[in-house]
Amino acid sequence: MDDDDLTPSTDLQRWARQYRQFAVQECPNDPLYVALCQIVADSPELLALMAHVRHAPQARPNLLLAALHERVLAGVPHDLAAYYPSVGGERAPDAALADSLHRFVRAERPRLLEHLRLRSTQTNEIGRCAVLWPALSAIAAQTGRQDLALFDFGCSAGLNLGVDAYRYDYGRFQLGAPAAPERPTVACQWRGAAEPPRTPWRLRARLGVDLAPVDVQDEDAVRWLRACLWPHDRVRARRLDQALAQARANRHPVQRVEQGLQTLAVWLQGLPAGVQPVLFNSWVLAYFDTPSLAAHRAEVEGLMRRHSLLWLSAETASLRPPGLALPPAPEGESAESASLWTVQALAPDGQLSAWVLAWSHAHGHWLHWLG
Ligand SMILES: C[S@@+](CC[C@H](N)C(=O)[O-])C[C@H]1O[C@@H](n2cnc3c(N)ncnc32)[C@H](O)[C@@H]1O
Repeated sequence: MDDDDLTPSTDLQRWARQYRQFAVQECPNDPLYVALCQIVADSPELLALMAHVRHAPQARPNLLLAALHERVLAGVPHDLAAYYPSVGGERAPDAALADSLHRFVRAERPRLLEHLRLRSTQTNEIGRCAVLWPALSAIAAQTGRQDLALFDFGCSAGLNLGVDAYRYDYGRFQLGAPAAPERPTVACQWRGAAEPPRTPWRLRARLGVDLAPVDVQDEDAVRWLRACLWPHDRVRARRLDQALAQARANRHPVQRVEQGLQTLAVWLQGLPAGVQPVLFNSWVLAYFDTPSLAAHRAEVEGLMRRHSLLWLSAETASLRPPGLALPPAPEGESAESASLWTVQALAPDGQLSAWVLAWSHAHGHWLHWLG
């Protein structure tokens, strides 16, 4: 008997609900993922794969979807690939998909289980740079310092360290680097009455840290980043490839760390005089449990006091700086799924102050600038 036959039925039922919910709430625009989620939800054999996920918070449908996608992107010859637009597949989900998926999973089981055991879903979304660019401009205006130093905490592959090398198209106007054929252009809808800040800035130093950074020179590691994107989203995939090519050329420093703030403390001491250091994190604080988040905040506050450090944070609204009033979410958008961009700094009277710069789509499709 296979170990999977021993998976408690309550677990299978819970995972089946998760997959059905995921199809409706998280990927309704991807017909392949909707169909795959439904097939998994109906199959005890496939649901039992979830028992192999070692890190409990990762026991989510997107981990298995990414694991399958990775095998397809790796070029495993199989009829399942015909359903994946990311490898040129054009076949719409049909009655043969369930059988194809089951056969694929049996054939690729060892590698799939390895992914489920060891991996976590990881992306590096340069769409967020469409907000990071004006945010850095606002910081330059606010501090009167145009020379900035960017420390990206939880930087993944470090692609957001290339914020000054991308082009941003907001429809009515453009910002960032000049357009060029191989330069990523990030389209972002600028919402709200506020005009964009236009104070120029430049990065005099940059460093990214991550518990598990993705090495842009390592094709296997990079394939996992691609696998975590939805297979139909060719715009994001192309932009990712362009940003990876730039990162390979620019080689901005990225370090694997256990204690990123210790690295930050050392880095701050080595910065040139007159440079404004900015600690940045986007979609990272959710990885902390409550006590570690409190400790992290206290440690950052200590660094702000010692080094005139500014803290720019793009996270869900519930992770905003304590005590900061929540501005109303933009019309038609949910505060739970958007990013709230906040800045914290030490005021001249020694008090910590925090303010909101913008709401944005989690991947930067739109931004509502509050300034
Ligand atoms: C959702 S990804 C976001 C990546 C990137 N900031 C972006 O906006 O695309 C979260 C990243 O945070 C990293 N991470 C989580 N906890 C961390 C910690 N305590 N120290 C450093 N990195 C961490 C993860 O490894 C992962 O690469």
